[in-house]
Amino acid sequence: MSDILLQLSGVHTHIGPYHILQGVDLSVPRAQLTMLLGRNGAGKSTTLRTIMGLWRASAGSITLEQTALTQLATADIALRGIAYVPENMGIFSDLSVRENMLLAARSGPINQQRLDWIFSLFPALQQFWQKPAGKLSGGQKQMVAISRAIIEKRKLYMFDEPSKGLAPVMVNSMISALRELKKEGATILLVEQNLAVAQALGDRVAVMDSGKIIHQGSMQEFSGNAALQQQLLGLNVGAHA
Ligand SMILES: Nc1ncnc2c1ncn2[C@@H]1O[C@H](COP(=O)(O)OP(=O)(O)O)[C@@H](O)[C@H]1O
Ligand SMILES: [Mg+2]
Repeated sequence: MSDILLQLSGVHTHIGPYHILQGVDLSVPRAQLTMLLGRNGAGKSTTLRTIMGLWRASAGSITLEQTALTQLATADIALRGIAYVPENMGIFSDLSVRENMLLAARSGPINQQRLDWIFSLFPALQQFWQKPAGKLSGGQKQMVAISRAIIEKRKLYMFDEPSKGLAPVMVNSMISALRELKKEGATILLVEQNLAVAQALGDRVAVMDSGKIIHQGSMQEFSGNAALQQQLLGLNVGAHA
């Protein structure tokens, strides 16, 4: 029915002797924000890493539009138009914020209009522009990580728990930035454990448990159904801010 940008079908991932993803079926519709929820250890980060080819799927298919990703190298997957911010944010501590941004632009020099837009999303970025990224607070680092991911338009943006460990004011500024990104029709796959953040941003929701997707639907339906939330997320609902 809807236009699917990224599709995972029956994806299995083994890490060494461990069978982590056990048949993941996940649809990410175009121009929507899909929240990937689930308790600790459910397999959310492994799913994003498998999409990027950082872990190899041992079975199943992953397609971005018409392209099968499972046989491609990570660099080629990124070049197909996927921006990925891992849990550790993947920024270069020894480089300045400016240098981090320069490295993130793949197609040439940074577009000034795009940069001005990013400064409007994260005004504080300008204040620590020349500072080594390693000297920033966790929240400031997360701003740099998100800014790097959106410095050029991509088909798909994937963020792994960007709210983790952030002060509430930082979480709010991240939520507004992602709202602005949504306004350009961006397709986003966002891993979250914080249900408030999920509800503030999500159009769609997918819930993982034990290496499988156990529920997919609209965020509106999910938000209105406390029993379903309890059943799917158990005690982890709003576990950390
Ligand atoms: N490098 C690894 N080696 C062994 N097991 C791992 C590794 N990474 C993740 N796992 C295991 O895979 C499962 C899913 O982890 P993960 O995808 O990080 O979960 P989530 O992001 O949902 O918290 C967990 O049981 C975790 O212990
Ligand atoms: Mg994780």
